[in-house]
Amino acid sequence: MDDGRPIGVFDSGIGGLSVLQRIREHLPYENLVYVADARYLPYGDKPPELIETRALCICQFLTAQKAKAVVVACNTATAAAIARMRERFSLPIIGMEPGIKPALAMTRSGVVGVLATRETLSSRKFESLVTRFGGDKKLVVQACPGLVEVVEQLALNSAGTRALVARYVGLLLDQGADTLVLGCTHYPWLSDLIQEIAGPGIVIIDTGEAVAREVSRRLKAADVLTLQTSSGMEQFYTTGELAGFEQVVARLWSRSAPVMALPAGFGDGHTDIIDFSPNRNCR
Ligand code: DGL
Repeated sequence: MDDGRPIGVFDSGIGGLSVLQRIREHLPYENLVYVADARYLPYGDKPPELIETRALCICQFLTAQKAKAVVVACNTATAAAIARMRERFSLPIIGMEPGIKPALAMTRSGVVGVLATRETLSSRKFESLVTRFGGDKKLVVQACPGLVEVVEQLALNSAGTRALVARYVGLLLDQGADTLVLGCTHYPWLSDLIQEIAGPGIVIIDTGEAVAREVSRRLKAADVLTLQTSSGMEQFYTTGELAGFEQVVARLWSRSAPVMALPAGFGDGHTDIIDFSPNRNCR
């Protein structure tokens, strides 16, 4: 039996599109539904309880779209919400994790730098990752306020963005880092700039590719891959302003696809989610 149900993917904004691209490369025939929770962007400076509520609402929306799996294409939301999401929903839920393990295997200086949001770096999940892989090598971390916002504005090479990247990357290089982990899915959109500023000897680690492989592996294991051999479709939703999101999708996504707004106030004011029946959103 063919399983044409979509894979649901979400992020606070356009960061998750960097992961969606990798998923599309690995799974060309699958249908994809993407949600950008732009009204609540940036997640990185929000309390974890709010991010958790948003993640549960969006997951509920995606299951109402008949998603067969959900990808939390956001390090911040993974850290804040994936445990609760897995408790509440029985479908496969795949999250992001900063690539500390591969970075520690690659460093020659013995110092790995992590760029991420404040919320990711202060999360218990990140702390346990460090404890698990830390060992005798050194990890230095840098929160990057403002970086998500410039990516959202598609200011990928402006003077202001260059100055922010130079500051954050410089602080890690000054501490001896020779390997930089991109711990936020917005940052791969800046990876050329980060490489240019850091210099050719610095290795940059992004886990989008590994997550796409994991999505593929999980769908295969659950025997829910589509049998179609024609290109899958994409649908994009935002909780933010539609016109701006349409422009971003047109610029960053190589194919045309419908872009829609979620109802105004989607999920607002929710502290608990009770009704999981299809066709209900969190309003
Ligand atoms: N792209 C996200 C992440 O990977 C969220 C960034 C934000 O909204 O602060 O952490």
